[in-house]
Amino acid sequence: MTKTVHIKTYGCQMNEYDSARMADVLAPLGFAPTASAAGADMVILNTCHIREKAAEKVFSELGRLRALQAARARDGGRMLVAVAGCVAQAEGEEILRRAPNVDLVVGPQAYHRLPEMLARLTRAGGRDGRGVLDTEFPINTKFDHLPESVTPPGASAFLTVQEGCDKFCTFCVVPYTRGAEYSRPVADIVTEAERLCANGALEITLLGQNVNAYHGAGVDGDAWGLGRLIRRMAEIPRLQRLRYTTSHPRDLDAALIAAHADEPKLMPYLHLPVQSGADAILKAMNRGHTADDYRHLVDRLRRAVPGIALSSDFIVGFPGESDEDFAATLRLVGDIGYAQAYSFMYSPRPGTPAASLAAQVPDARKAERLAMLQACLADQQAAFNDASIGRTLPVLLERRGRKPGQLVGRSPYMQAVHVAAGDEALNGIAQVRIVGAGPNSLAGELAIGHEAGATRPADRHVAAEAYP
Ligand code: SAH
Ligand code: SF4
Ligand code: F3S
Repeated sequence: MTKTVHIKTYGCQMNEYDSARMADVLAPLGFAPTASAAGADMVILNTCHIREKAAEKVFSELGRLRALQAARARDGGRMLVAVAGCVAQAEGEEILRRAPNVDLVVGPQAYHRLPEMLARLTRAGGRDGRGVLDTEFPINTKFDHLPESVTPPGASAFLTVQEGCDKFCTFCVVPYTRGAEYSRPVADIVTEAERLCANGALEITLLGQNVNAYHGAGVDGDAWGLGRLIRRMAEIPRLQRLRYTTSHPRDLDAALIAAHADEPKLMPYLHLPVQSGADAILKAMNRGHTADDYRHLVDRLRRAVPGIALSSDFIVGFPGESDEDFAATLRLVGDIGYAQAYSFMYSPRPGTPAASLAAQVPDARKAERLAMLQACLADQQAAFNDASIGRTLPVLLERRGRKPGQLVGRSPYMQAVHVAAGDEALNGIAQVRIVGAGPNSLAGELAIGHEAGATRPADRHVAAEAYP
C-alpha cells in the first residue's frame, strides 16, 4: 500500500537538497511525496537553526500539526511526525521534551538511517513516551548510503558537493549543526550530475556551506579544488549552466577566478558574503579577512570577469558594532555595488562565542541599521535591474508564472525574469528581450528567432561589459 510523506523545508538550499534525498530514502518503503500535510502518513519538518525565529517557527508548526494528527487518528490512521535538519541536530532532546507529538528526530548527517529509525519506532510500538533520536555524525558519510535519486530534478537542480564548515565564525551555528568540513569525491559528483542531466537538468548549482573550500578526491587521486571540479562538470554535454553557493572570501582562489574567466558554462554571478565592512567587527566575527581584502578580491574577480554580478550576506548589530562600524559597512556596499544581497539582524545563537559577548546591540538599533542597509541594497538592486532593460539575455525558463501564458526563469545574473511564453518554451533556455524591471524581477519577451524549447550552447557573459 502506498503511504504518503509531506516534507516541509526551511533554511538553505542544502536543506532543499536533503529533503529530496529523504524522499529518495523513504521511496523504497512505499512512501510517495505529497504536497499537503493534511492526511499524510508522515510529515517531516526539515529545519533551520541559523536565526532565532527559524527554530520558533518549527515549534509553532509542530503545534499546528497536532490538529492534523488528531484528525488522522479519528480516521483510523496515524500521522508520524519527524523533525530533521539543523534544529534537530542542535535541540533534538529539547524537541522531544517540548513536543510530545514528535516521533522521530534526525540530524542532517544521519537521515540515510531513517528506515532503521522507522523500524525501531515500530518495534517500540509507537512513540511510547520517548521518540527515536539520531543526531550522530557517522564515520561513513550519508552520501555512501543514499539510494539513486527518484526525485525528478527539474531544469535547475541542486547538487551538494561539500558539507559542514571548519571556519567557526563566532556568530554561526553551522559548524555545530552540520559538523566538520567534508568534500565528496569528484567521481561521485560527476555520476550524480550526469544522472541529473539525463533526467532533464540544464543547470546545476553546486552546494556547500562553504562550497569553495571544496577539496574532494579527484579522478587522478589528487585533491581537486572547486575550479577544477567546475571544469570537469562543464564537460557534461547536456549541462548548460553551472553555479555554486555559498562561498567564503578566504577560499576564492586563483583557479576558481580563472574558471570564471574562461569557462562559459559558469554563470557570471557570485554570492560572496562579507557580513560587515568594519575590520574590528570582521575580526570579532573570526572571518579571517579585512574589508580591504574583500575589496581587492572583488577587484581581481572583476578584472577577470568584467560584469560579474555580486551578491552578499550582511549581519547588522553584531556585538560591539558602533555607528562608525555600521557606516563602514554602508561604505563597503557603496564601493562594491551589489546586484542583490541578503541582510539580517544579529541573532545570538546558543553555544556560539558571540552570544556571550557583553556588548550586545539593542534590538531597536539593529532594526534601524537593518532598514538603512536594506534601503541601500534595494537601490543597488533596482539600478542593476534597470540596467538590464533593452538587453537580450538567455533565460532558463523553469516554471509557469502566476498568469496564464507566462513563464518564469533566471537570467545569468540570477534575476527572476517573467516572460510571455507558452509551455513549449518551459525547461529550455530562451533568448529574452528585457522590456521592464521591478525591484525584484524583470519582464521580458521571447526574442525573434527563438526556437521554442531549444537550448543554446552556452550563456556566455552576455553583454557583460555593459554592466558597471
Ligand atoms: N556559509 C555561509 C553562510 C551560511 S549562513 C558563509 O560563510 O557566508 C547564511 C547567512 O546567515 C550568513 O552569511 C549570515 O549572514 C547569516 N547568519 C548566520 N548566523 C547568523 C546569526 N547568528 N545572526 C544573524 N545572521 C546570521
Ligand atoms: Fe557559518 Fe562562517 Fe561557516 Fe559560513 S563560514 S557556515 S558563516 S561558520
Ligand atoms: Fe539553516 Fe542549517 Fe542551512 S542552520 S541555513 S539549514 S545549514
